[in-house]
Amino acid sequence: MYRTHNCGELRKSDINSNIIICGWVQRIRNKGFLIWIDLRDRYGITQVFIDSEKTSPEVISIAKSLGREFVISVRGKVIERQAPNNKIPTGEIEISVENIEILNKSEVPPFTIENESDGGDELRMKYRYLDLRRNPLKNNIIFRNDLTFEIRKYLKENGFIDIETPYLIKSTPEGARDFVVPSRINTGEFYALPQSPQTFKQLLMISGFDKYVQIVKCFRDEDLRADRQPEFTQIDCEMSFVDQEDVISTFEGMVKHVFDKCLDYDLGKFKRIPYTDAMERYGSDKPDTRFDMQFFNSSEKAKGNGFKIFDDSEAIYGFNVTSGAELSRKEIDSYIDWVKRPQIGALGLIWIKHNMDGSIKSSIDKFFDADQLKDLTNSNPGDISFIISGNKKKTLTQLGALRIEVAERFGLRNNGKFDALWVTDFPLFEWDEDSKSYHSMHHPFTSPVNGIITDNPADTFANAYDLVINGNEIGGGSIRIHNKELQQQVFSILGFSEQEALEQFGFLLNAFKYGAPPHGGIAFGLDRLVAVMNQDESIRDYIAFPKNNSGKDVMIDSPSKIDNQQLDDLNIKLK
Ligand code: AMO
Repeated sequence: MYRTHNCGELRKSDINSNIIICGWVQRIRNKGFLIWIDLRDRYGITQVFIDSEKTSPEVISIAKSLGREFVISVRGKVIERQAPNNKIPTGEIEISVENIEILNKSEVPPFTIENESDGGDELRMKYRYLDLRRNPLKNNIIFRNDLTFEIRKYLKENGFIDIETPYLIKSTPEGARDFVVPSRINTGEFYALPQSPQTFKQLLMISGFDKYVQIVKCFRDEDLRADRQPEFTQIDCEMSFVDQEDVISTFEGMVKHVFDKCLDYDLGKFKRIPYTDAMERYGSDKPDTRFDMQFFNSSEKAKGNGFKIFDDSEAIYGFNVTSGAELSRKEIDSYIDWVKRPQIGALGLIWIKHNMDGSIKSSIDKFFDADQLKDLTNSNPGDISFIISGNKKKTLTQLGALRIEVAERFGLRNNGKFDALWVTDFPLFEWDEDSKSYHSMHHPFTSPVNGIITDNPADTFANAYDLVINGNEIGGGSIRIHNKELQQQVFSILGFSEQEALEQFGFLLNAFKYGAPPHGGIAFGLDRLVAVMNQDESIRDYIAFPKNNSGKDVMIDSPSKIDNQQLDDLNIKLK
C-alpha cells in the first residue's frame, strides 16, 4: 500500500495513528539532531519530524540525502506538534518518522514551487507540469473542475443531454480564421477545426434532441489577447421550441447556480441593456457595470460657442468621475496621453474640474463659462468630467476605453463584486467599410426580430443576446433561423451567391426542408467564466496547458515543422 492518508487530512484526532503518506519534498530544515520535512501533495502539506535519537541511522541518512521535489513515502506515527502552525489545516500535528522510502529523485527544479515563485513566465510555461504543482495554479484547475461539475449537474437536472460533435469538419463562419487539417486520403482537401459546433447543434435540434449541451473545445486562428486562446472551451447549448426569454431564463439560472455553489455568491437578477444603449451609455457592447460613470451626450449643447473642435464634430460625449477634481495636472496629462496612444486613437481629451467650492476649471475655459460647463456635464462638486468628440462611433469607443482605464486607476474594478448583464437587441448585420459588405454581428444563423429583414439590412435587429459579467463577454447566443428561404436571404445579403451558399451550407439548407423546429441557444466561454469568477481577466492560468502570447506551447514545442515524408504523404509542398 502506498498511502493510508493524504498530506492534507491528518488532524489532532488522528494522534497516535500509524500512517503512511506520500508526496513531494517541499522544504527541509536540518538542525543537526532534528530534521523537519514539509511533505506536499494535491491536498496540502504535512510536517514530517525526524528525531535522531529515536530514528535508525539508515532512515536519518536517507532524510539527509533528500532534495527539493523528491517523491517520498513516509511511514510513522501522528504526534502533537510542539509549535502548532495555525496557517495550515494540518498545523497541529506532525509525523514522527519510522521509515522513509525514496520513490523517485528530482533534479533541482528550475524555479521555486511555492505560492510566489521566482520563475519568469516563459520558464514556468516550459515546465508547466511543475508550475501546476503550485497552489495558485492547482487551485484554479480544481475550481474549474468544480464549476464544470456544477454546470453538468444543473443542465442534467434541466433535461439537457451531452452529445459530441466532430472536430474534423468543414469551416463554420464565426468570424475568425479556421485552423485547417490536410486530408491524406482525400488529396488536396482539408478539414477545418470547428470554431464552434454551431451548425451541428442546430442539426441535432432537427434530429429531435431538444436540449443539447457539450463542454467542447473550439479552435480559432485569431490574434491572442489575455482573454483569448487559439483553442478554448465552450459550454455549448441549444434548445428547441424556445423563445429568447426561455433561453435567457434557463441560462441565467445556470450562471446563478454556479456562482451560488462555487462562490456562495448571489448574483441577483441580471440587468439588461439593449446594444444601442450600451454603446451610447458605456461605449462598449460589454460594459463593466460594477460602477456607474455613464456617458452624457453634449453633441447639441456644446456646439456654436466658437470652439472649432466641437463645432466640427459629429458627436461630443463625456462622463463624470467622482472625486476626480482632486487629480493633479500631471495626472490629467497622463490621461490625455493615454487616449492619444495609437491603440485608442483619440485626438485629444477635454477636462472640466468641478471643484468642491463650486468653481470650475477646465481646458476649454476660453470658450465656455462656468454655468455653461455645469450645464454640459451635470457634474457634482468634486467631479472631473472628461469629454471626447469626433466621429460618433470612434468617440464612443474611445470614451468607453477611457472609462475602463479611469475605473482601473480609481480602484473601481476589483472590488469583490460581480455584476451580470444581458446585452440584447444587437443589429443583425454590420457594414464593413473595408470590404464594402455586410457582416453578421453574431453569425449567419441568427434570426432577425419577428423573422423579417427590413429593406435596409443595417436597420434589422437580431434575436441575439450576450452575457457580460464585470465587463467580460462570457457568453453569446441567439434564436436561429429555421426556415430555408430566410436563411438563403441572409446568405445573399452576406454576399454569397446561391451556388456558394449551397456549396458551403447545402447540408443545413437541405436539413431545413425536413421539419426544422424553432430553436435557439447560447455558448459560454468556460475559460473566461472561470477566470472572471476568480476576479481575473487572463484565462491562461485556468487552462492546464495553454499557449503563450505567440500561440506557442513552449513545453512541447508546438507548432513545429513536420518532416518531408509527412508532407509527401499529404501531397503538400511548402512555399
Ligand atoms: P461566440 O463566438 O460568441 O459564439 O463564442 C461564445 C463564447 O466563447 C468565448 N470565446 C472565447 N474564449 C476564449 N478564447 C477565444 N478565442 C474565444 N472566442 C470566444 C466567449 C464567447 O462569448 N456558436 C456561437 C454561440 C451560439 O450562437 O450559440 C459562438 O461560438 O466567452
